[in-house]
Amino acid sequence: MKVKKALSFLMMTALAVTMLAGCGGGRGTEEAVQTADTSEAPADVEETAENESTEEAEPEEAAEATSAGGGIVGVALPWLGTQNWAEAEVMFKEQLEAAGYEAIIQAADQKVPQQQQQIESMIENGAQVIVVGPVDGSQLGSVLEKAKDAGVYVIGYDRLLENTTGVDGVVQFGSVKTGELQAQALLQGLEELKGEAPYNIELFGGGPADPNAPNFFTGAMSVLQPLIDDGTLVVVSGQTDFTQCATVDWDNSKAQSRMDAILAGNYSDIEIDGVLSPNDGIARAIITSCENAGQPIPVVSGLDAENESVEWVWSGRQYSTVAKPTNALVAETVSIIDSLLSGNGMPATETTANNGVIDVPIYELPPVVVTKDNAKEVFADDPDRLALLTD
Ligand code: BGC
Repeated sequence: MKVKKALSFLMMTALAVTMLAGCGGGRGTEEAVQTADTSEAPADVEETAENESTEEAEPEEAAEATSAGGGIVGVALPWLGTQNWAEAEVMFKEQLEAAGYEAIIQAADQKVPQQQQQIESMIENGAQVIVVGPVDGSQLGSVLEKAKDAGVYVIGYDRLLENTTGVDGVVQFGSVKTGELQAQALLQGLEELKGEAPYNIELFGGGPADPNAPNFFTGAMSVLQPLIDDGTLVVVSGQTDFTQCATVDWDNSKAQSRMDAILAGNYSDIEIDGVLSPNDGIARAIITSCENAGQPIPVVSGLDAENESVEWVWSGRQYSTVAKPTNALVAETVSIIDSLLSGNGMPATETTANNGVIDVPIYELPPVVVTKDNAKEVFADDPDRLALLTD
């Protein structure tokens, strides 16, 4: 209680200072609060990470705090090579501008130094918040510390920011859950379309620098491994480690070459029944490889509900995908930015992930599996995708 009172008092002081300075909030004020908080109660770090600021604000304080508005927001995206990132570029611009912010949005073409430089220039250009979808989750430590020292808030978008204290929270779809859904859909498809077990399958992972990729794989293997162990599933190539299955840079053509090689080396006289794919681009590459090799189309999972894959799911060429709507993730991010720049700090959340250095508050949305059976339901409020579901 003592800590909470101290927090409230300091928040009011910090807000008064912010308002006098005439700027829309900022980490400087928040840090004053956090420093005081930890010095009063060093053992309470976890609670602090989950953040109490919105809970603690008295109604009048909160009302006063939300009056700030405006500000410069940087958005650093890893690339525009899959539909979700291309959508993010457009939707961040629309949603940030509609909320009254100036948006600086850049994509890094999968290159770490380019992304570091883009974030540096966002700091120099006065961004008060920087949203980061990292090319490599662990390679931005020093530039993010620099952002933190400059009083800039940093929000991880879709991917975790690892090995740095320069991150205030991460907004994402459950990544382990996504992998579980992919594997469950694969099993369902095998049972539906490929007769009795055992089933011949192969496994693919995403880009090893992306912290989501091992999580997707771990989630999927938690479902598949017991069935590999009992012989229901046979990974004919024997390649079951993430490092063997990963696809550098999420590059579809690398996945297609690996599938070509696996088929040539292992499937000359047997059929492949299913493939775990970490996203839609790779799924289409795998399916194309199987078609080229004269194989019947295997059951293949996916992710992103990309337009082309939604069409393939509808026509039966790809078995499943997982929807993780970009507009919802961007909207969640913008609502956190609103909270930060109106002086209310990070919203409360019960979920945290350790990034190697700190427990990072996580704001998680649920991914949803899509097959032909539920596609119309899942996309009921998405007219663009719904329009693809025609015979
Ligand atoms: C995202 C996926 C995307 C992949 C490749 C992952 O981090 O979560 O939606 O397909 O990156 O861009």
